[in-house]
Amino acid sequence: MAEQAFVTLATNDSYAKGAMVLAKSLRNHKTSKKLVVLVGPHVSDQSRAVLHKIYDEVRLVDVMDSGDTAHLAMMKRPDLGVTLTKLHCWTLTNYSKCVFMDADTLVVSNIDELFNREELSAAPDPGWPDCFNSGVFVFRPSNETYSKLLQYCTEHGSFDGGDQGVLNGFFSDWSTTDITKHLPFIYNMSSIAIYTYLPAFKQYGANAKVVHFLGRMKPWSYTYDPKQRKVRGDVQEASHPSFLLEWWALYSGEVVPMLFREYGDQPFHSGCEEDVALSQDAPPPMSSAERKQKWEQGQADYMGIDSFDNIQKKLDAFLK
Ligand code: UDP
Ligand code: GLC
Ligand code: MN
Repeated sequence: MAEQAFVTLATNDSYAKGAMVLAKSLRNHKTSKKLVVLVGPHVSDQSRAVLHKIYDEVRLVDVMDSGDTAHLAMMKRPDLGVTLTKLHCWTLTNYSKCVFMDADTLVVSNIDELFNREELSAAPDPGWPDCFNSGVFVFRPSNETYSKLLQYCTEHGSFDGGDQGVLNGFFSDWSTTDITKHLPFIYNMSSIAIYTYLPAFKQYGANAKVVHFLGRMKPWSYTYDPKQRKVRGDVQEASHPSFLLEWWALYSGEVVPMLFREYGDQPFHSGCEEDVALSQDAPPPMSSAERKQKWEQGQADYMGIDSFDNIQKKLDAFLK
């Protein structure tokens, strides 16, 4: 029987960092599956060299971009047109079944049981639960499906400008037909859930198996102080959600040393404080009006000032 694999995608060096951490997290939780990363031509040689060490297969693919600025603007994510590149995963026909995972996901428990599910299995999107979120999904590589997906894109485009719009259009019976294709939310738990349904997060959050750092701010958008084990940036000291810290612990402990080895004498900013101290790329502070506007647009700073701990403090104060 052909092998099974976890698959991710990185079109640039930032998402490549995410892919490195994701693979480390899968290996640390003892997956028995192969690990495959699709990379675009803009990923540096150094990042590729590290990916080669962590992944079983690094496959170079062309970047497919929807160029659909109108729909992408609605999500305030002009960068997501390139996510159509994800569709290449259907061409991995040397594997019988795969699980695609976004490069901004982190595995916190073994999830090999996902391979018992069929195409297309995925968890509900936290913003629109009749759609599935395309950050984690089970699929069967097939050139036929790949051609049909491309044809679908040409004929219908994507309603969000990215892969999630295409895939939900193509697998449009997901929400109604087969409940076994609905993955439990713990396989794709986005931190946004902390804000939209705090009691459920308190009840079930500890069972999370995959954390998805969905949204504009990614773990690598922050900086980290390895000595104090603290994430810095637009994050309040006491309120680091533990998953962000877990991502950074893995990245700084297991990935950064590999990257430094590859970069040698050439400059490389890991995001750890020692080497960022010299650069000026810390984000400027946000006014409360800007923050309110962002919140209303669904862009809460859930890793920072709008974190779970801060909301809880506010609720506690209110209840008192
Ligand atoms: N991606 C990429 N390069 C980009 C944007 C996205 O490689 O410039 C890939 C990466 O695997 C990423 C996925 O596409 O995890 C989906 O994008 P993202 O996670 O940023 O979307 P979100 O989950 O925040 O909606
Ligand atoms: C989403 C998904 C992501 C997808 C993007 C574009 O919010 O989390 O995986 O690439 O939309 O469709
Ligand atoms: Mn994502």
